[in-house]
Amino acid sequence: MASVLIDGIDKNYGPTSVLRGVSLSIADGEFLTLLGPSGCGKSTLLRILAGLEVQDAGSISIGERAVDGRRPKRRDVAMVFQSYALYPHMTVASNMALPLRMSRLSAFQRLPLLGHLLPGTARTAAEIEVEVTRTAKSLGIGHLMARKPGQLSGGQRQRVAVGRAMVRHPAVFLMDEPLSNLDAKLRVQMRAEIKELHQRLGVTFVYVTHDQAEAMTLSDRVAVMLDGELLQVDPPQDIYADPDDRRVAEFIGSPKINMLEGVVRERGLIDLAGSTLTIEADALPGAPLTLGIRPEAFYLVDYGGPGALTGSVRMIEHMGSDLFVHLDLAGLDHPLIARLLAERAPHIVPGQTLHVGVRPDRVLLFAGDGRRLRRKVESGRASVTPIREIAR
Ligand SMILES: Nc1ncnc2c1ncn2[C@@H]1O[C@H](COP(=O)(O)OP(=O)(O)OP(=O)(O)O)[C@@H](O)[C@H]1O
Ligand SMILES: [Mg+2]
Repeated sequence: MASVLIDGIDKNYGPTSVLRGVSLSIADGEFLTLLGPSGCGKSTLLRILAGLEVQDAGSISIGERAVDGRRPKRRDVAMVFQSYALYPHMTVASNMALPLRMSRLSAFQRLPLLGHLLPGTARTAAEIEVEVTRTAKSLGIGHLMARKPGQLSGGQRQRVAVGRAMVRHPAVFLMDEPLSNLDAKLRVQMRAEIKELHQRLGVTFVYVTHDQAEAMTLSDRVAVMLDGELLQVDPPQDIYADPDDRRVAEFIGSPKINMLEGVVRERGLIDLAGSTLTIEADALPGAPLTLGIRPEAFYLVDYGGPGALTGSVRMIEHMGSDLFVHLDLAGLDHPLIARLLAERAPHIVPGQTLHVGVRPDRVLLFAGDGRRLRRKVESGRASVTPIREIAR
């Protein structure tokens, strides 16, 4: 078991700066996900944690000890790669046993024929076999031990790669997009298995993905990364509902959050898209703001004017219980997307004029530089605390 401390990591490849001042503290036993678009530096950070890559500045501690300069084998971590990195010429059993053979047997003991004659080799090899078999059974691949990776399905290969990491009993699991080669259905199944594995083992997981559904369902906390920097590290719910930065709000959520430009008219009123909404903002009259409104923050109303936005229905996506309605609003170059309950919005057709209200407490305000402007009522999360205290 071990905590992980990432302190001020910089990494450059030639003139390209890939990581800039990345700092992050991961608790013992936590499931932390690095989430970000392709090329943002997730794998690079994970490889630095594993000791496969050397940082240009900063320090890594695992289990409260600095591990900079320590070789991968001596960091008490095990990595599962996106490609699984299994040896194609070896059986499943040999692939899984390899890390244990490397750590428990000497170079002489590992020699093909002669090694078996050396004292202790047979006993250690038998112990390794027991351990590998037990791990394989726990992952449901006990019957595949004699096969080679080429004779396995994607999901089975993924289990072998996880098993090879497990046999080392690492203090920290590092997983780099381990599910990205699987089809959608298997990905959801394996996602649940990884969550179960984390609960069973109780060790620290650092998991890399660009799939937000994976990050949201698996993690205790999500670290959102963009262009080599960490933008926010918080529990999934806060990343979604309480983003610190416009880029985080736009990266998380599907369909994407609606971003509308508005202007403060006077205290408590914001003009936008030909209407006026009653929203408290800590900004002076005339100040431009961006309003971030998630699709589910809209609801159907039967009137236009103040408090509502009016548009023409461009397209409707049926999702079963919900509808995603794309609305063209005057003065907006991209449609607004509202998520409405299908049963409440039965007769919507393209071309129709529609009015939607907005839940003011769900509107996120952003300044011109993308920084989140928290309203007093929000920053006064404190105002919620006394109620909890009374309830207790
Ligand atoms: N060995 C290398 N030499 C030069 N540039 C590299 C090297 N490894 C990575 N990079 C660059 O560093 C950046 C970050 O790469 P990295 O693999 O960490 O991204 P990632 O977030 O894991 O992306 P993906 O989701 O596509 O796997 C990329 O622009 C990549 O081209
Ligand atoms: Mg990567």
